[in-house]
Amino acid sequence: MPHFIAPSVLSADFANLQRDSEMLNSSEADWFHVDVMDGVFVPNISFGFPVINAIKRHATKPLDVHLMVMQPERYLQDFKDAGADGLTVHLEASTHLHRTVQNIRSLGMKPGVAINPHTGVSLLEDIIADVDLVCVMSVNPGFGGQKFIENTYRKVSQLKELILKNNSKALIEIDGGVDLTNYKKLIAVGADVLVAGNTVFAAPNPVEMIKTLKLG
Ligand code: DX5
Ligand code: ZN
Repeated sequence: MPHFIAPSVLSADFANLQRDSEMLNSSEADWFHVDVMDGVFVPNISFGFPVINAIKRHATKPLDVHLMVMQPERYLQDFKDAGADGLTVHLEASTHLHRTVQNIRSLGMKPGVAINPHTGVSLLEDIIADVDLVCVMSVNPGFGGQKFIENTYRKVSQLKELILKNNSKALIEIDGGVDLTNYKKLIAVGADVLVAGNTVFAAPNPVEMIKTLKLG
């Protein structure tokens, strides 16, 4: 399967969201990755519904919304209304994760589950058949532009095995520190979706950078 590229709008220029959304529309990016941070689950606050609404007005590609939020089950309908196509919640942040995942799907969004760097892949065993995506955090969530954690490769291989064993259709998404030094190896070990914030938006030519990451 060809891999997907999901640039993170966390690294976009928020004063020029229309311009940056149009850049992504014109590029080979597959999804917009939208990072929502609550200042509790992670030590940073990003943005909420009004900003997602604004992105949705200009985006011609699916919104892959990543909630770094405690008890995300409180807001599922709101994210649907704001325009989320995929909604990923953290395993560490939702006590009744199975119910949350079912509710995301029944609202017509693609459910995903994200795991922090310290969370073992084996904890996904009883949810893997129910999700469309697993987001493997390759940095501690909260900020763009951090250094990639090398242990991620091992986790991707383990996750690939778990997916095959359970006949799951889940895509493997890698989020954090993806750059020109690691993207090829990530694809080789089984990544399906590469999120890239800093690598895309700090590039002299973001459209060309997306093209490079997409080529693999
Ligand atoms: C980290 C976010 C990531 C981040 C990726 O908390 O979930 O999506 O924006 O940014 P880079 O690619 O700059 O690490
Ligand atoms: Zn993210």
